[in-house]
Amino acid sequence: MILANSLPVLKIGKHSPKYPLIQGGMGVRISGPSLAAAVAREGGVGTIASVGLAVASEIFNGRNYFEANQIVLKEDITKAKKDSNGGIIAVNAMVAITDYDLHIKAACEGGVDIIISGAGLPLRLPELTKDFPDVALVPIVSSTKAANLIVRRWEKLYGRLPDAFVVETPLYAGGHLGVTKMEHVTDEALSLETVVPELVRYLEDEVKTDIPVIGAGGIWDRKDMDKVFAMGAKGVQMGTRFATTVEGDADIRFKQALIDATEEDVVIIKSPVGIPGRALRSPFIQRYLDGTVESKPCFANCLSHCSYRTDKKAFCIAQALVDAYRGNWEEGLFFCGSNVVRIEKMETVDEIFGELFG
Ligand SMILES: Cc1cc2nc3c(=O)[nH]c(=O)nc-3n(C[C@H](O)[C@H](O)[C@H](O)COP(=O)(O)O)c2cc1C
Repeated sequence: MILANSLPVLKIGKHSPKYPLIQGGMGVRISGPSLAAAVAREGGVGTIASVGLAVASEIFNGRNYFEANQIVLKEDITKAKKDSNGGIIAVNAMVAITDYDLHIKAACEGGVDIIISGAGLPLRLPELTKDFPDVALVPIVSSTKAANLIVRRWEKLYGRLPDAFVVETPLYAGGHLGVTKMEHVTDEALSLETVVPELVRYLEDEVKTDIPVIGAGGIWDRKDMDKVFAMGAKGVQMGTRFATTVEGDADIRFKQALIDATEEDVVIIKSPVGIPGRALRSPFIQRYLDGTVESKPCFANCLSHCSYRTDKKAFCIAQALVDAYRGNWEEGLFFCGSNVVRIEKMETVDEIFGELFG
């Protein structure tokens, strides 16, 4: 059995999880309060994805998207905090969404412990959270260059540093891949092996700080975790393995689609956000790749840049993600990491922690 005391100690601002494991935020509502609470109860960091919560809720009446998002996010944090017996709860907020500032405000007011933010550079995050000094701030980056931009801006304008960085590699991760060009998805210069040690060195030597670096993308078991720790990371973030857990918030048909997937089913698409994403080749995505997709109308202006809204070239991503959350294989956008091929069955969060930490 592997003993927990051989693990790095992860401290994110004022928060110290028992295990150095963050469950990655997965939208729309693939990681809601049920999954986040289960992970936090086990001693990891449980993350609620803030994107599009209104659409999957009963209080959304077609006109109150932005208001409903905030109400549901606050309710979800309260529920996750309670069900995890006070475990550490994070919110994942994507910089690319129109109501980003409101999500951050709602997360802070709702009592969240950590904000993890990517899909764009969270350059204004300290300003948006200035009244909540205990909320730890964690940008997601794919390169040291991006981390350097954030460090310089935050130091200059706000006199503070991030509480940790998540390095997410586009080579294996699920969802939006945090790079702008398709060719970056296979760029070995963006592997964890390259970026994690480089970022750790940059933070130690140039910024003179020991803020933790957390690796994400393609991590499945303890062997994968230990490899990332050996690169200098103090923690890992895992998404895909948790998406199909019993406690995962998505419909069982979403989970079954991921369990059934083979390597040939995994595709990289250019999402309406304008960046590449890794997903399953559902009938809907196949039609999109063939150029014959019928549009799903935009109902909320949910993205600050959306190629569907500007030139009708894509589809409404919020609707496609909610269709997947509801288990509609024909119509949904099923995001997944390349580890989707390793999922054989639904597991409980408790089983995963037992296997990973002994
Ligand atoms: C279904 C799904 C949805 C995701 N949604 C988001 C999201 O809303 N915001 C985000 O920053 N990352 C998102 N991700 C990325 C995960 O948080 C995580 O960092 C990534 O999946 C890690 O790689 P892994 O899946 O190989 O473990 C998503 C991933 C998946 C599989």
